Amino acid sequence: MPATLHIGQLLTPLKSPFEAPLEESFRYESRGGLLVEDGRIQALGPAEGLRAAHPRAEVVDHGQGLITPGFVDAHVHYPQTAIIASWGKRLIDWLETYTFPEEIRLSDPAYATEIAERYISLALAHGTTSMATYCTSDPASVTAIFEAADARNIAIVAGKTCMDRNAPEALCDTATRAYDESKALLETWHGTGRARYAITPRFSPTSTPEQLAALGALWSEHPSALVQTHISEQKEEIAWVQELFPQNRDYLSTYEDHGLIGPGTLLGHAIHLTASEEARIREAGATLIHCPTSNSFIGSGLFETARLAQAGQRIGLATDTGGGSSFSMLRTMAAAYEIGQLSGSALHPGELFYLATLGSAETLGLSHEIGSLAPGSMADFLVLDLASTPAIAQRADRSNDIWELLFSTIMMGDDRAITRVFVAGEDETA
Ligand code: GUN
Ligand code: ZN
Repeated sequence: MPATLHIGQLLTPLKSPFEAPLEESFRYESRGGLLVEDGRIQALGPAEGLRAAHPRAEVVDHGQGLITPGFVDAHVHYPQTAIIASWGKRLIDWLETYTFPEEIRLSDPAYATEIAERYISLALAHGTTSMATYCTSDPASVTAIFEAADARNIAIVAGKTCMDRNAPEALCDTATRAYDESKALLETWHGTGRARYAITPRFSPTSTPEQLAALGALWSEHPSALVQTHISEQKEEIAWVQELFPQNRDYLSTYEDHGLIGPGTLLGHAIHLTASEEARIREAGATLIHCPTSNSFIGSGLFETARLAQAGQRIGLATDTGGGSSFSMLRTMAAAYEIGQLSGSALHPGELFYLATLGSAETLGLSHEIGSLAPGSMADFLVLDLASTPAIAQRADRSNDIWELLFSTIMMGDDRAITRVFVAGEDETA
């Protein structure tokens, strides 16, 4: 296949702006080029130099469009697609009233496939080209999302959501079934095409210690897989964990005791951690996944991104649909900004953009493949319209640099700002 040279404004993260100065953390080209061949990024730089060096490349000129890496959503529940924006409950009630009944509906494999395909289409339309998703406890729901992702060639992390207590019987497995079914799915999908497997105990309230131990054993047998779960999202939930695990010192220890905390563990929410839990998570190299629209929608609390990042925590950003109220990582960045303000820190647009791309990719262990426009990465990228509505356009007119320009789209933009989406170099918007 001949190479393609995409031309436009171009912005990519290089490293964490929480650790390095802004100028070293990003590359911006006002008239940049991205050379793509065989689904991978071959080079990036000033457009004219690349055009001269690669005269045979087919040129696609995106004008003033901003070429960025595709967004990476580090925590989502695809089975909750159809119940997003359900009114009036806090976490435990919300799970029982809306989530569990919908997850039972996905026991119909045809419905699971319909929702999986619908979710992937919505994610792509919002510029999300990779995600880590929970499924239901039914293995067919896992197969459905891996197949839907494979059909669009996207890099995905997914896993069977294991629960053996405090959930409707129709959703409960056992410790042995959780192990056996997770193992079979992991062996089928982990490393197949662009898929990765995450061992997925939903959270400690819905797993017995026996189930957590079985899943920890599975991880020790397959250490290249990931683990995803929830921790310390709401105070009522933490009190419930204390009742269910009276012998444990804290919430984190319910996972630690069963070998579930390590560099490949993605901890969703992580709002109300103790100082000791924060220190142990950092030492273990596990990651925190910030779900800002969900945290305000379900009323969970304020995640302190700046403080935690400065303390050396690795952080990803996520929609947490359907607890989150949007499929859009732009809306999610805006919510992260607002929550930062409420907890005393104005996150820079570069920090928000990093979290939604390379930061999340790092939590998934996939930063060599996704999350930036680095040569060698898969060509999963977007073209953003930085004047996608009249309100944004008039603000953009007053912007003095790329950060001011991008910030107006972060704060006011949505799927209308996503003009083109490329996955492995193929145009998914065509
Ligand atoms: N904690 C356990 N399960 C869930 C879920 O589905 N969504 C959210 N937001 N929190 C959870
Ligand atoms: Zn969640």
